[in-house]
Amino acid sequence: MCGIVGYIGKKRAVDVILKGLSYLEYRGYDSAGIALISNNNTNIFKAPGKLSNLKEILCLEKEENINATMGIGHTRWATHGLPTEANAHPHSCNCKSLTIVHNGIIENYKDLKPELEKKGCKFISQTDTEVAAHLIAHEFEDKKDLLKAVQSAVKKLKGAYAFCVTHKSMPDRIIAARKNAPLIIGVGEGENFIASDIPAIIEYTKKAIYLSDNQVAEIKTDSIKIYDENDTLIANKVENLPFEPIALSKMGYKHFMLKEIHEQPDVVRNVLVDKLHDEDTKVILDDVKLNKEQLSKINRIQIIACGTSLHAGLVGKYILEELTGIPTDVEASSEYIYRNTIADENTLVIGISQSGETADTITAIKQAKEKNSHILIITNRKDSAMARLADSLLPINAGIEVSVAATKSYMAQLLSLYILTIFIAENINSKENGHIKDIKKELLTLPSKLESILNDTKNIENIAKKYSSFKNFIFIARGINYPSALEGALKLKEISYINATGYPAGELKHGPIAMLDETMPVLAILNEGIVYDKVLSNCEEAKARQAKLIGVTNFIDEKHKNLFDDMVSIPEISDIVSPALNIVVLQLLAYHISEYLGKDVDQPRNLAKSVTVE
Ligand code: F6R
Repeated sequence: MCGIVGYIGKKRAVDVILKGLSYLEYRGYDSAGIALISNNNTNIFKAPGKLSNLKEILCLEKEENINATMGIGHTRWATHGLPTEANAHPHSCNCKSLTIVHNGIIENYKDLKPELEKKGCKFISQTDTEVAAHLIAHEFEDKKDLLKAVQSAVKKLKGAYAFCVTHKSMPDRIIAARKNAPLIIGVGEGENFIASDIPAIIEYTKKAIYLSDNQVAEIKTDSIKIYDENDTLIANKVENLPFEPIALSKMGYKHFMLKEIHEQPDVVRNVLVDKLHDEDTKVILDDVKLNKEQLSKINRIQIIACGTSLHAGLVGKYILEELTGIPTDVEASSEYIYRNTIADENTLVIGISQSGETADTITAIKQAKEKNSHILIITNRKDSAMARLADSLLPINAGIEVSVAATKSYMAQLLSLYILTIFIAENINSKENGHIKDIKKELLTLPSKLESILNDTKNIENIAKKYSSFKNFIFIARGINYPSALEGALKLKEISYINATGYPAGELKHGPIAMLDETMPVLAILNEGIVYDKVLSNCEEAKARQAKLIGVTNFIDEKHKNLFDDMVSIPEISDIVSPALNIVVLQLLAYHISEYLGKDVDQPRNLAKSVTVE
């Protein structure tokens, strides 16, 4: 989603900001802009489209217009108004003295705008942010101090924001503020940085202050002052940042997505290390703060998440109910928050999020917290807002995921759910040991099985090429692989814009079958297990309607020969662990179709890596 980078120091701000914004590009955006402040002068440059468009404009500028050592920059993901130059940030007031970059949504902008217009403010964009610019500028006229102006203005704003604000009459400071949108201040020597995410500044500093909700900061070259919601100065809490710059390299792969798909064997090893040693030893989860007695009292589990994380949660439901016997519901966070969900102190609420910053899931977690449920967060970002709300934290340690389409984080979420489920089952003795032992044994063999799929992808590449011209796809499966069908379809539509839908195979005949003919390929996941024969007969039904059939299976069966047009085999695996292998085939298929079609694999249109607005 939108990205913010601010700099104040001795370097050319334009270089630091552009580089920082380029490290946030992966999050998705559709226009970019920068404000450079020097000698009581502010220069604003903006461009729709990619950052390269902004760079081209800056290249043509005279050096004296871009040599400032302080500035703020932004990549915008359009919410209010088209991705045009006028709507790009930074925004300004009538006299252009003040500049602001903003992530989030000002919910009451429509209420504030007429009042400001009455006071003479001229609006030139369709954005909610411009309202904040005028509001702060008005406060500044009264208070004659930028910090005080921002402190006063934020009390009138509703919604979510992470801001950086400058004023040309105070060219020695940037004011930052946050509520329900992430913002960090990178601490340097004789220079300081502001960013909406770590990759933007990690090259310059490993120390940062995480702003909390309702805090406002005054940042100068050699000082950082943080104020709480009562405008009281509070102590700075400087923390070490967790990333190495190397994490942002493609390491020779054509796209980050392909690199991240190939990292999955190591991701599995990382999740299992220190938690699962062998099949005879109990799972260790130090970060889960629930003892045997508390776990035995849990009578309901609710999983809340969005998108790919939601699909991991759906697999979680199957394994949790199978191994612990505890009724488990899975719901999209955006649905969970607008109804009266039944939860109490005996409910375990599991929030799953790669970014830990997804606005819908944060709101859902806060709602569940009010009902005194135990909140367990499964996330890739130990430093995220969601992690800070957790009673128990299960970091998935997948490493930074740059590709907008989630792959390795899904794998790490799945593995974390297996481990968590076994941990609960072992503590409440819900299942006989033999079954759990078998699953543990299989989990330990997963990395090598994943490697065997990833070492030979030619067949998948050929299938991708063969089917890349189709405009629609159906993915079917049953049981624990139904979520795999949903996730495979989501991957394909996200990065290739092909209309792909996942269905439980048994539902095909209740409606979707009407769409089947030779133009509608059907991909079926067939795992040896209780639903194998059922999926096979659903495939027969599809074949009878002339649909092209692609199978993904762990089972060699003569019956496949005349039925499937194409087949991908995966290593032998039990039904319960098979989602971890099947999904890799579907990720690769989506990747190669998108790549073959020449789409922007890592940064698909309209999508954002971290969805920080509701
Ligand atoms: C799909 C994808 C999205 C995210 C969703 C939730 O590839 O990445 O569907 O899964 O936006 O994001 P997190 O997991 O960060 O809460």
